[in-house]
Amino acid sequence: MRWNKTALTTFVTCALAASTSFTASAVTTLKLSHNQDRNHPVHKSMQYMADEVKELTDGEVRIRIYPNGQLGTQRESMELLQNGALDIAKSNASEMEAFEPAYGAFNIPYIFRDRDHYYRVMQGEVGEKILESSHDKGFVGLTYYDAGARSFYASKAINSPADLSGMKIRVQPSPTAVEMIKLMGGSPTPLSYGELYTAMQQGVVDGAENNPTALTTARHGEVAKVFSQDEHTMIPDVLVISSKVWDKLPQDQQEALKKAAKDSMMYHKDLWTKMTNEAIEKAKDGMGVKFVTVEKQPFVDAVKPMHDAALNNPAIADYVRGIDALAVQ
Ligand code: GCU
Repeated sequence: MRWNKTALTTFVTCALAASTSFTASAVTTLKLSHNQDRNHPVHKSMQYMADEVKELTDGEVRIRIYPNGQLGTQRESMELLQNGALDIAKSNASEMEAFEPAYGAFNIPYIFRDRDHYYRVMQGEVGEKILESSHDKGFVGLTYYDAGARSFYASKAINSPADLSGMKIRVQPSPTAVEMIKLMGGSPTPLSYGELYTAMQQGVVDGAENNPTALTTARHGEVAKVFSQDEHTMIPDVLVISSKVWDKLPQDQQEALKKAAKDSMMYHKDLWTKMTNEAIEKAKDGMGVKFVTVEKQPFVDAVKPMHDAALNNPAIADYVRGIDALAVQ
């Protein structure tokens, strides 16, 4: 079923507000929306967080997770969150850029040297400042979840930017992602994640880009048989809570939520490695997807102007400098 935005907002407000309660009982139930399947590592990590929150608060704070975009797309979830109609959402820093420009710093291609650099940023002061930056926009970041490196997948190999010429590539709704595909020579098509399988199947787009778990958990490996590992971005998922909800929670519950969120980020780290490896094996052996190693330098060169431009963009320059400063430990 497809929902228009007003119907969706009304549905979620009526159906869910009834179970949110700060005063009538000692138990506060927070609704969390996300767009991945139950088998996706991030769902499991958020379940881990929910269990820890319940334990730390002696059952006073509970989190109910709604997966598979049941409550709407990531964009719709952010809008519901800003209205206070939804409590918590897991989105991705790419999509978040439209709601808080600070997240754009994560979206610059090849900004991270490696996974350790990526974690130093997510766990350090820069990452924390970005999470805190959006309180007056209606939401507060709780933590990040590793979402691996994003690469192209399509029915043919993308060995160099020249191979993208004439190809419609689905991107997340993010100005930085659009710019990246343009500079590489492809034609960017922003779509929500839930629409992508059908768009690839019907040829509305010629390819997409994501980490390998998309091939299995969202079954994209059924409709795209070549995964070309250029690893252009490392864009974390982000867990955010409505400012209205956050401000109403007593300090001890805020602390419990923050602790559980941080702990689940570390739980997720190992789970991510394990489940990504499993996804690659399953995509290769069970779905016939071919993984191609590509020379990254031509991709790096094509998008280099983006890093330079970011250093001159007052909205994100400080964050980008902070990320660059952590490149070498
Ligand atoms: C990743 C991310 C999702 C996002 C998706 C996308 O899978 O975890 O939150 O929606 O990319 O490409 O849209």
